[in-house]
Amino acid sequence: MRVAYTSDLHVDHSPENRRLTALLGERLRAERPEAFLLIGDVAARPRVVADTLGLIGEPPCPALFVAGNHDIWVSLREQRRGLNSFDRLDEQLPAVCADHGWHYLDHAPLLLDDVAFIGGMGWYDYSYRNRSRDAEITLEHFRAKSYGRWRWGDQHYARFPGEDGELLDDDALCGLLARRLEAQMRQAADWPARTVVAAFHHLPYAALSPPRRMPWDFFLGFAGAPRFGELLDSEERLAAVLFGHVHMKLSLFTPAGIPLRCSCVGYARDWPETELEQVLDRSLAFIEL
Ligand SMILES: [Fe+2]
Ligand SMILES: [Fe+2]
Repeated sequence: MRVAYTSDLHVDHSPENRRLTALLGERLRAERPEAFLLIGDVAARPRVVADTLGLIGEPPCPALFVAGNHDIWVSLREQRRGLNSFDRLDEQLPAVCADHGWHYLDHAPLLLDDVAFIGGMGWYDYSYRNRSRDAEITLEHFRAKSYGRWRWGDQHYARFPGEDGELLDDDALCGLLARRLEAQMRQAADWPARTVVAAFHHLPYAALSPPRRMPWDFFLGFAGAPRFGELLDSEERLAAVLFGHVHMKLSLFTPAGIPLRCSCVGYARDWPETELEQVLDRSLAFIEL
């Protein structure tokens, strides 16, 4: 099965990001993959996510959506109206996907022919930070998502309340989402799948070395959490792990030697290419399963 994937369209970042999205739909219909995975960070407002799926248009194959951290951002005005990130993750985004005929992977695994897809947003627990700088950049800085002049954008807009109404910390959110992954894996365990593919917005393995420069030594703490990869390692049929979030194109391996890849669009201001078609050449990737 030939599977296409990309992530981090960030259509609310620039007009170029939005124009790329229309081209993405055309490219998909020309390439005719057998499945397409969009692995998070489309836009901060569900209406814009809906517009984006409309702009991509009719996919030529089953299309799977994974939520990213930007997709669950709730504006301060919405927060005052009582909305939180669970409303995005568990109600608004699945409704947008249902309206457009996309499968919402955060809520259910999917079996296509003999390939099972599992995954979801994932989250971070600061494990990937540059630990050699712990005396300087402390866990308190990570919990506050603020260090010096650097801020992690989820600081004010990712808002996941627990049952008592208090906000969950990042470790608790990871625990909650890891239990959702376990439930997906139990469901897929009984499926007649030859192969299992996992797709997470955040990086589920400690596969990146701290770059030893700012702000990346700080931001890497928000890249992902290894507990998701530890769960995936128990799936013997696992053939590939795809992710997004880091705004790079990477071809890595898990400790067990499974391909671990991302192919992000990212912000137009960071694109090395001058033509949108070239941006797509880089950021729309394929994997044969
Ligand atoms: Fe992103
Ligand atoms: Fe992200």
